[in-house]
Amino acid sequence: MISAVKKPLAKKDRRRSGLAVSPGSVHWSSASENWATPQDFFDRVAAEFGPFDLDACASAENTKCDRYYTPAEDGLSQPWTGRVWLNPPYGRTIGLWMRKAYESAKAGAIVVCLVPARTDTAWWHDYAAKGTVRFIRGRLKFAGHHKDAPFPSAIVVFNSQNID
Ligand SMILES: C[S@@+](CC[C@H](N)C(=O)[O-])C[C@H]1O[C@@H](n2cnc3c(N)ncnc32)[C@H](O)[C@@H]1O
Repeated sequence: MISAVKKPLAKKDRRRSGLAVSPGSVHWSSASENWATPQDFFDRVAAEFGPFDLDACASAENTKCDRYYTPAEDGLSQPWTGRVWLNPPYGRTIGLWMRKAYESAKAGAIVVCLVPARTDTAWWHDYAAKGTVRFIRGRLKFAGHHKDAPFPSAIVVFNSQNID
């Protein structure tokens, strides 16, 4: 079971988790749409579905993989191959990221997504519901945030075997 249970982060993991980013930066702000994955949660997902070859959208400070795309490269317009980790920006573009995940899986990738469980949205019905959905028990405390998220989360797994 994937749950939101937290463990203290090892020092070496702080940079990748985003905790090393200074308050006031866009990655730290709770107003940001960039909810960086807690490292211990990512490690548990990676143990089950990884290891991951690519973090599809990230920065040098919060990437979970050695290979990653940044806004400068625009992960949406790059190829996604192998095992892909996706925790997209949670704003208006989230449907584009989920469409890309779905289509990349149809082309042979395995894409594991961490998304808010917004089950009433078009992107959820059009894409997320076509993968294997694992609702997360409890609320995640995203990296750099002091409080639990104000929304529930889910893991969505797309691979060519399990999508319509
Ligand atoms: C929710 S955070 C996830 C960060 C990290 N992948 C993780 O799982 O913790 C979303 C990231 O997407 C990046 N991002 C936004 N637009 C992007 C784009 N067009 N291409 C690549 N990365 C992008 C943001 O800078 C941010 O670091």
